[in-house]
Amino acid sequence: MSRTLLILPGDGIGPEAMAETVKVIDWFNANRATGFEIEEDLVGGCAYDVHGKPLADATMDRAQQVDAVLLGAVGGPKWDNLDFSVKPERGLLRLRKEMDLFANLRPAICFPALADASSLKKELVEGLDLMIIRELTGGVYFGEPRGITQMNDGTRRGVNTQVYTTEEIRRVARVAFDLARKRSNRVLSSEKANVMESGILWREEVQWVHDNEFPDVELSHMYADAVAMQLVRRPKQFDVIVTDNLFGDILSDEASMLSGSLGMLPSASLGAADPATGKRKALYEPVHGSAPDIAGQGIANPLACILSFAMCLRYSFDMGADADLLEAAVSKVLDDGVRTGDIAEPGVAPVGTKEMGDAVVAALGALAA
Ligand code: NAD
Ligand code: IPM
Ligand code: MN
Repeated sequence: MSRTLLILPGDGIGPEAMAETVKVIDWFNANRATGFEIEEDLVGGCAYDVHGKPLADATMDRAQQVDAVLLGAVGGPKWDNLDFSVKPERGLLRLRKEMDLFANLRPAICFPALADASSLKKELVEGLDLMIIRELTGGVYFGEPRGITQMNDGTRRGVNTQVYTTEEIRRVARVAFDLARKRSNRVLSSEKANVMESGILWREEVQWVHDNEFPDVELSHMYADAVAMQLVRRPKQFDVIVTDNLFGDILSDEASMLSGSLGMLPSASLGAADPATGKRKALYEPVHGSAPDIAGQGIANPLACILSFAMCLRYSFDMGADADLLEAAVSKVLDDGVRTGDIAEPGVAPVGTKEMGDAVVAALGALAA
């Protein structure tokens, strides 16, 4: 069985976090005979520096062919003033769009040892296990018309269009209901149907999928602004939340703080299952960005990137037991008090990125022994 991974470390802390993830992959190859073959390439600002665009066509082609893509992060101040069409972020958006990765799974889990690291009270987040499913290839991120136009009166007009179709909504809703059946059997769908027609369509189509295909799953609806409030008021009321591209982006950054830090949140971006093989195209990446404020210092938390590889084991290779092992290793490291700066308690000296990666590898060894 081929197990080829395309690794795109990207910019800023991306390569720092990815180096620790590669240590974990090497551990699985050495100890579990997983046979992962790694190819590495450029995305984002570093790709622009070499190719004059943030994703070379050859890299795009490889991404379409491999079994899974792992991405670090893209962007940074060096490339902030580039033309919009070649900005680092466009490389990531092209991967998502051309691979048709419409379902972005962003689990916000509060590891027991981190209940105190959240900015919320411990009792609000302890035991939290929430899954945000963000639609990833539609909505205002890709809608037409878009652009900045010069008006006759000398002013300018910036336009983006929120647009969703029946099928775009139905397919991501199915992913949410499917996943809910394996969890607590509840889905909350979120939009702003009170002000947006695309929100009305979203609500109606999610309801349609529920009524016709998943009547056994409990479905409720809530406006996105209310979800933002409830996430910090009583987050444990939620289990699976399905929402659009922009609301999902914002709500998942908010949810990350429930788990202690943006440096803890992994994600999986999945395409449709191939009818013949059942395999999905997939890209795994931490939710955080390139963190220019701490890049190059060796202090970034690599756990979001490492946990994204755990999602890769589970969703691309059906290696649930290995994914559980890796998540247990992360949990053990946190139980042992190992902390990078973003999750450190006051008065406790934090470790660096490399030490955190080494601690996870050591914990894998201890748990597997
Ligand atoms: P960011 O996620 O890079 O950083 C936000 C804050 O969180 C910073 O203070 C940062 O130090 C901290 N942080 C993030 N990840 C961390 C980690 N692993 N360990 C410790 N602290 C961490 O968001 P930003 O500053 O808004 O964006 C910076 C750049 O990253 C921009 O160019 C943006 O477009 C890009 N970005 C890329 C992605 C991606 O590649 N998927 C995601 C978000 C932002
Ligand atoms: C994310 C990021 C991206 C997004 C950017 C970098 C394009 O914020 O993955 O959450 O907005 O989707
Ligand atoms: Mn984001």
